[in-house]
Amino acid sequence: MEKLFLILLLLSSCSLLVSSANASAIFIFGDSVFDAGNNHFNKNCSAQADFPPYGSSFFHRPTGSFTNGRTVADFISQFLGIEFQKPFLEAQLAVVNGSRKDYPSNGINFASAGSGVLQATNPDWGVISIQQQLRQFQALIQQNQIDKNLVQNSLFLVESGSIDIFNYFLPYDTPTLDPGAFVQAMLTEVGDLIDQIYKLGARRIALFSPGPVGCIPARALLPGAPVDKCFGKMNLMVKKYNKGLESLVTDMPIKYPGAASLM
Ligand SMILES: *[C@@H]1O[C@H](CO)[C@@H](O)[C@H](O)[C@H]1NC(C)=O
Ligand SMILES: *[C@@H]1O[C@H](CO)[C@@H](O)[C@H](O)[C@H]1NC(C)=O
Ligand SMILES: *[C@@H]1O[C@H](CO)[C@@H](O)[C@H](O)[C@H]1NC(C)=O
Repeated sequence: MEKLFLILLLLSSCSLLVSSANASAIFIFGDSVFDAGNNHFNKNCSAQADFPPYGSSFFHRPTGSFTNGRTVADFISQFLGIEFQKPFLEAQLAVVNGSRKDYPSNGINFASAGSGVLQATNPDWGVISIQQQLRQFQALIQQNQIDKNLVQNSLFLVESGSIDIFNYFLPYDTPTLDPGAFVQAMLTEVGDLIDQIYKLGARRIALFSPGPVGCIPARALLPGAPVDKCFGKMNLMVKKYNKGLESLVTDMPIKYPGAASLM
């Protein structure tokens, strides 16, 4: 399954909020595309990338990131001239054991590989759901561990959904929803997440759209999936999901005054 994450990483598409060129912090939520080591610090989690060749081309050692090099969040940080964000669980450990006084001021990475936008996606792997990631962030705000002004000027990166759609086609879990209703349920969750992030003070939100998940090699293992071409049914769901994300983003400035968003 680890290979799957690596490939999903390459498929995710992105663009950058130009107005955030002066942001000094980034808060990150999502799956393996962004996970910088939360799963590594979560010993209960079976989705791990803490072995070679992960990390080989940039850090020259496995860091817990699901890529050989930097994540998109790392590249954006470099572009902004700020340090890479630490995994929340690493920062928390350091604050709890006294080796750090405060949480980092350049943002925090909450992403957990293998998680989806639906809570029902992969709980048996011990992943941190995106809803739980947001509760971790919320707790820090409530404990005044993160400055509210910092939050307002920070960039928020949200990327999730590939794993839910991939899992929809797994043989041992007959879906109760048809593909359209399943995608709608995902979009409802994303809408709720945006709503919560905004209420916690975020004003610059970048939603990342999953790439053509139906083209990853692992799709060939699924029942009914073609081996010699992409899995059309899966890509159709991704397309619908991305269309839904697009309208969420279009509606955001109307629904949420003062918010800038893009995908
Ligand atoms: C970024 O620039 C805007 C507009 O010039 C300003 O209002 C904001 O405070 C700046 N943010 C940071 C983090 O410097
Ligand atoms: C505290 O936690 C940090 C982060 O995991 C770790 O690097 C450091 O070695 C720990 N220090 C102690 C004294 O346990
Ligand atoms: C560890 O993972 C299992 C599933 O593998 C889960 O049921 C359990 O709640 C998790 N424990 C903790 C402490 O997160």
